[in-house]
Amino acid sequence: MKKNILLGVCGGVAAYKSAELVRLLRREGFEVRVMMTAAATRFVGSLTFQALSGHPVATDLLDAGQESAMGHIHLARWADRILIAPATANFMARLTQGMVDDILTAVCLAARAPPVLVPAMNSAMWLNPATQANREIIESRGIRLLGPGRGELACGESGEGRMLEPEEILNRLRELSPTGPLQGRSALVTAGPTREPLDPVRFISNRSSGKMGYALAEALQAAGASVTLVSGPVSLAPPPGVERVRVETALEMYDAVFARIDQAPLDLFVACAAVADYRPAEVSAGKIKKNDANMTLSLTRNPDILTEVAALPADRRPCCVGFAAETGDIRRLGEEKLRRKGADLLAANLVGGTQGGFEDDNNALTLLWHDGQAEKRCGDAPVADLRMDLPMMPKRELAAALVSFIEEHFFACNPSS
Ligand SMILES: Cc1cc2nc3c(=O)[nH]c(=O)nc-3n(C[C@H](O)[C@H](O)[C@H](O)COP(=O)(O)O)c2cc1C
Repeated sequence: MKKNILLGVCGGVAAYKSAELVRLLRREGFEVRVMMTAAATRFVGSLTFQALSGHPVATDLLDAGQESAMGHIHLARWADRILIAPATANFMARLTQGMVDDILTAVCLAARAPPVLVPAMNSAMWLNPATQANREIIESRGIRLLGPGRGELACGESGEGRMLEPEEILNRLRELSPTGPLQGRSALVTAGPTREPLDPVRFISNRSSGKMGYALAEALQAAGASVTLVSGPVSLAPPPGVERVRVETALEMYDAVFARIDQAPLDLFVACAAVADYRPAEVSAGKIKKNDANMTLSLTRNPDILTEVAALPADRRPCCVGFAAETGDIRRLGEEKLRRKGADLLAANLVGGTQGGFEDDNNALTLLWHDGQAEKRCGDAPVADLRMDLPMMPKRELAAALVSFIEEHFFACNPSS
């Protein structure tokens, strides 16, 4: 499958190496478009990149001509991967701050998938606490940095800060784009708890740590899918290469999921978040005072995200996987939930015990699916069972096993085009 790479070039001496990078990427079969900062055009002419990529180079955010040709939003959507090489200290600082003062930063902010940065700078600039603080923030957002390497620098010094050679960048990109069985598939995973505010300082929430959902996002990415993670408040870093959208409440999670589905059809929806079923009917503007001995809270039902995604018309409906955290007979409750929500697969797990479930690093799952559901998606392929138990194991292993199951039962007979 041909992939679109959008290469952003910043103003550093290493910009000349990016010309060779364009040549190598095209030889590898990528479609390449280039955008340059104003400073970059002082180092290498845009004509060089135009000739090598075979496309006009985007240099100006506020140029009506360029916007009407392929504007920043269009470029962001076109790109399967955004690569910034070289990434200057200045660019890293601007990206960290969420600034949109040129075409590169505008595209990075508008894009669905996080960019990959290839830093290049003098080693003192790289090791400066300001740059290192920016690096930390950038990485905490799931943005991957390739390098920098060590060696001779353009300034005559030697040390850390050298841009990786184009061949090595290409190798690292191959590693970042696993050619797994779900390559070309898009998946959305919800994870973590939601918080339903009562007043400015209090909320109703639950014990979900987000570990299972994050592990699933990582496993889907490793299987080659492009993954969006819509996450409630948790203290986990997003897996590299996974786009994370942070939300707090169930309504925000609902909006984020449907905004993503409206952007482009999804292949797979995994509802792993522990979404609050109810929210306070009223949110007090000021802190609620303790005036009475008892207090009654009035709650309103939140929308059921999984049920609504599963009820989408066939042309917009992804394969739907739900999670059920239960404290009783998980098989009976899980089967009932599978039917009520209209999901394709339900992963039920026991919570509230001494081992597994919320907060724990381990878990066990019982997978339940509809009679005939797999045949519907996989033609004549036989269905082995309607129930499968995945025993207690680390959540990352469990996530990999679940992703293999999903791939085999719902996608193996229907490869992506
Ligand atoms: C000769 C020269 C070489 C430079 N090399 C680098 C470099 O390798 N890395 C870097 O971060 N900045 C370097 N700079 C500084 C950037 O060009 C400067 O911060 C510029 O504003 C970057 O703009 P941009 O991030 O929009 O491309 C260099 C400046 C000069 C004059």
